[in-house]
Amino acid sequence: MDMAFHITKAVIPAAGLGTRFLPATKAMPKEMLPVVDKPAIQYVVEEAVASGLHDVLMITGRNKNALENHFDRVGELEATLERKGDTDRLKKVNASTELADMHYVRQGDPKGLGHAVLRAKMHVGREPFAVLLGDDIIDPRDPLLTRMIQEAGKRNASVVALLEVDPSVAHMYGVATIEPTETADVVRITGLVEKPAPGTAPSNYAIIGRYVLRPEVFDVLEKTPPGKGGEIQLTDALEKMAGAPEWTGGVYGVVFRGRRYDTGDRLDYIKAIVQLAVEREDLGPDLRPWLKEFASNLD
Ligand code: UTP
Repeated sequence: MDMAFHITKAVIPAAGLGTRFLPATKAMPKEMLPVVDKPAIQYVVEEAVASGLHDVLMITGRNKNALENHFDRVGELEATLERKGDTDRLKKVNASTELADMHYVRQGDPKGLGHAVLRAKMHVGREPFAVLLGDDIIDPRDPLLTRMIQEAGKRNASVVALLEVDPSVAHMYGVATIEPTETADVVRITGLVEKPAPGTAPSNYAIIGRYVLRPEVFDVLEKTPPGKGGEIQLTDALEKMAGAPEWTGGVYGVVFRGRRYDTGDRLDYIKAIVQLAVEREDLGPDLRPWLKEFASNLD
């Protein structure tokens, strides 16, 4: 691996308005919505740490208190559980506190994902870094980010996660124009378009919420005007980088075929909870038979 490609930092944008989840997100960021019994954000921080990224910068917006508190100590709760001798629950409470070296910066106005990532510039410096979105939970048994970091290092390039989606839903994603490489699960990206109009997507390869980026992305983002929805789009900056491999290293995609749970949309969020809960040792044995019975009574 290129020694210049030493990566230690993860950036987690969590400043979106979460309008699809109103009113739940009126006073709380959507990243705090529980997926079974953990907020979505904790899965994401755990994933970063599992990939060796212990320095986590969260980009927060209004209602940031819940996020910061979740990764902080909570004295009276810990004392009460200790007094009761409830070590199991005490362990659960402390797990998020001891996970990573957490940092926070505010986005100010939520002017888009690209704008949120640009807020990480000072903290990240001139190093490659990872971006993880709380909308996607990647099953820890299918280590995507580790694979992406490996490829980014090998190629000294930026790498995004791609998912083959049904053409009918491509307009909800950033979609890539791709070329094969010598590696089966890696493609070279030659173009990108954010949320293409239905029927105009250049492929079925959609970006999901994991990125390994070279610091040149900051230089590009600084010059990226608002795009789709009047927001500064990370996809637009990546499109620029894909077209300028001489100084950005270009952009590659790792095609993910593992288990991913989409929590950004209400219906997919409900599916994610059911999927994850049936597989849990503590809940699955009771949930599975109930679910079968429930399903057989539908209609
Ligand atoms: P989304 O496009 O899902 O937007 O953002 P959103 O506002 O969070 O949710 P909806 O669509 O209104 O329901 C993708 C990711 O980018 C972050 C979000 O927190 C989410 O992780 N984001 C988006 C920011 O941090 N800042 C922004 O200005 C926009």
